[in-house]
Amino acid sequence: MMEKIKNAMIFGATGQDSSYLSELLLEKDYKIVGVKRRTSTNNTWRLDSVIHNENFSLVEGDIVDPSSVNQIISEHQPDEIYNLSAQSHVHTSFNQPLYTFQVNALGVIHILEAVRNYSPTSKVYQASTSELWGSNYDIDPSLTDANDHIRYQDENTRFSPNSPYAVAKLAAHESIRLYREAYDIWACAGLLMNHESPRRGEEFVTRKITQYIGRLSYSGFDPNFPHLKLGNIDAVRDWSHAQDMVRGMWMMLQQDKPKDYVLCSGTGYSVKQFLDTAFKHVGIHDWSRYVDIDPSLYRPCEVEFLQGRYNLAKKELGWEPEISFDDLVREMVDIDIYNVKYN
Ligand code: NAP
Ligand code: GDD
Repeated sequence: MMEKIKNAMIFGATGQDSSYLSELLLEKDYKIVGVKRRTSTNNTWRLDSVIHNENFSLVEGDIVDPSSVNQIISEHQPDEIYNLSAQSHVHTSFNQPLYTFQVNALGVIHILEAVRNYSPTSKVYQASTSELWGSNYDIDPSLTDANDHIRYQDENTRFSPNSPYAVAKLAAHESIRLYREAYDIWACAGLLMNHESPRRGEEFVTRKITQYIGRLSYSGFDPNFPHLKLGNIDAVRDWSHAQDMVRGMWMMLQQDKPKDYVLCSGTGYSVKQFLDTAFKHVGIHDWSRYVDIDPSLYRPCEVEFLQGRYNLAKKELGWEPEISFDDLVREMVDIDIYNVKYN
């Protein structure tokens, strides 16, 4: 018997994750409707590899506008809905807390209400985040202090959001659980740690660093090249490649029963260690002569340490990351060097 072609809908179609997820779903013969908000200039550069595919289409819609969400979901009746849209920048959320709440919390309720009322068989994936844990972590009593992995976060770590971004994402996360329990909606949330790629937004720390190295390299490593300004470079993040993460999102939606999973690399690195790896890749062993600390880039409240465990995803989904930290950093640096030269 022929398998039915699945329809997926992606909110946040122009973002980093959506671009990789779209490539993956097209390989699996899905039909995709990407939802993008109206912008005055074109911002579909991340979708170059999929935008002309006959199984990919874009529609306009804004998740803060329930009428548009209702209309799009009721018209397309998607088998799978991936909500990847968000005001995704943590620092910005301190300056725009209400807007962040509208998009990251209320927007998710708009999607859940639309599913409940107009498309109750759709499966929903919500982009939850390691920011929900704030400064919390658990300790593994079987390890010692000398072991870097003694501190970790997983599905059982208590949430304690440290930013307006995370507060809004927690409201969304709890709404997913509520709609699952109250209305039997198939909805799950991926608790994803940081993930990056050459398509990462330019204002996130990894891409800010690799873009800087691209420009510095183009200058011929000019000793007078303007310095890179950074904030808290002691912060530790558990960085993965976005390509690995979108595979995990899809795997979560193939389950019979909805459940939330942590996806991560399992190892935390400081921003300093990211700088080490990225600069070493272009032959620079002392990056400190190119970097200044700018106190205005510190956040009112910081998440200092993220290092996850993906045991549950490995056991139940068979998911594991495939791209190493070093390969991720090297790919980002190489592509940013190429971009400055040829774009
Ligand atoms: P991203 O590149 O910033 O993409 C966010 C997307 O949301 C963009 O397409 C953006 O559109 C769209 N969007 C913003 N406001 C919208 C609105 N009102 N209506 C419709 N769309 C709207 O983010 P990402 O890195 O791909 O992350 C995807 C999701 O995972 C986000 O929800 C993020 O919070 C979450 N997350 C990310 C990470 C990570 O490390 N990347 C980790 C955990 C969770 P424009 O292009 O028009 O701005
Ligand atoms: N953005 C930025 N810019 N961050 C800096 C800078 C800088 O100049 N200097 C130091 N940092 C530090 C931040 O203070 C933070 O501790 C760390 O670098 C990472 O910052 P971001 O790259 O902005 O990412 P994030 O961890 O705050 O948030 C990302 O990951 C979350 C998952 O943990 C985003 O993708 C969120 O949307 C996502 O939920």
